[in-house]
Amino acid sequence: METLKKVRTAVIGCGMISHIYIRNLKRMFAIIDLVAVCDRSPENAKRQAEAYGVPRVMTMEEIAADESIELVVNLTPAFAHYDVIRSMLLAGKHVWTEKMMTTTLEQGRELLRIADEKGLCLGVAPDTVLGAGVQTAKNIIDSGLIGDVTSCVVSINRNQSLNSEIFRFLRGEGGALPFDVGIYHIAAMTALLGPVTEVQAFGAPAPVHEAQLFSANPVGESWQVPGNNLLVGGLKFQSGALAMVHFNGNTIGEEKNGFTVYGTRGILSLGDPNTFGGYVRMTLPEADEVELPKTHGYDGTPPTDKPDGIDLGYGHRGIGVAEMAWSIRKGRPNRCSKEFGFHAMEILLGMDESAGTGKIYKMTSTFSMRPLPAGYYSTLGHGAMRGDAERSLME
Ligand SMILES: NC(=O)c1ccc[n+]([C@@H]2O[C@H](COP(=O)([O-])OP(=O)(O)OC[C@H]3O[C@@H](n4cnc5c(N)ncnc54)[C@H](O)[C@@H]3O)[C@@H](O)[C@H]2O)c1
Repeated sequence: METLKKVRTAVIGCGMISHIYIRNLKRMFAIIDLVAVCDRSPENAKRQAEAYGVPRVMTMEEIAADESIELVVNLTPAFAHYDVIRSMLLAGKHVWTEKMMTTTLEQGRELLRIADEKGLCLGVAPDTVLGAGVQTAKNIIDSGLIGDVTSCVVSINRNQSLNSEIFRFLRGEGGALPFDVGIYHIAAMTALLGPVTEVQAFGAPAPVHEAQLFSANPVGESWQVPGNNLLVGGLKFQSGALAMVHFNGNTIGEEKNGFTVYGTRGILSLGDPNTFGGYVRMTLPEADEVELPKTHGYDGTPPTDKPDGIDLGYGHRGIGVAEMAWSIRKGRPNRCSKEFGFHAMEILLGMDESAGTGKIYKMTSTFSMRPLPAGYYSTLGHGAMRGDAERSLME
């Protein structure tokens, strides 16, 4: 019988999202051996190592020099991604990074080139596209039930300036709503409908924000979430489908998420692509809308009897890391590939550029992503058989 050589993995960046990643990477996937955590602030790394039983706290230099560590998971803020990814690729590590890959296309292209030259995997979040919601929708679309997809409408809103009171990284490059959150909608649309060829948009900046409510920010301190915090535009897919996009960070925080896919024979409505198990509802002619059962696992149901705050909506973060680890062992491409991550980033930066120039932006990149096989579930036997879903990540 083939024995499993686990992939020795280290996490760099021990902030908020690291809770769910570290817990899941430690316990959920047979393929991952999480051996170390690292943060530029050593107290953060020490706290997470103790909380989740990770054997070692290491520096970036120690990780780079440790030949037994094959894979690095980068959970630093977007503005730090380029430096962390570049140094780890140059040290010969496969890298999984949180979104967005970088904040400029030039940096992204350089990272793609280094990964190719060194024969290394670079995987890019969001891995919500591998969750039950998007994968079930993909299965339905590919089965032809709604005919040929002709268009798609997506929308998300937040008060990004208010959020940046608490989440300080939102004040840095990549913090505006289209890049911080709209990326989930872009990634889900492209996972479902394939590559985009042209984009066009209008945009508006965030207002200057003055701290008033929170003691963490001195009253009167002011800042501005950078770049276009509101983007409204259109995408043209290679398939011929067209999409309407509305990402508004200049409004209130009560989210009105929208995600509708229109086909020649039916319509699909999807839940929030920033979760793993968003609903999939189908409308066919002369019939009421129905909610479809999920055909895939990883639906975001907390993999523990005692869910806590970190589980809300985040239940299965880390599937992309495990899928990439299996791809390394099996010698096949990973699904949330660097080309997929770069394409999603180029769509958003292309919209941003179009908003500035008033011209259509022609995409330079493309990607392909195989869907996950259907029929594997993550909560069989009340979660005791969660390994069933991991089988769907192997091939
Ligand atoms: N917070 C969320 O809900 C959420 C959800 C999904 C994805 N993300 C993504 O995850 C990433 C991290 O987000 P977060 O909310 O955990 O941020 P955070 O600010 O809470 O944590 C980031 C951590 O990275 C460390 N860090 C910063 N620069 C570093 C460097 N150069 N080297 C080593 N460590 C460094 C910081 O000290 C901090 O501990 C971002 O890319 C974000 O877009 C966040």
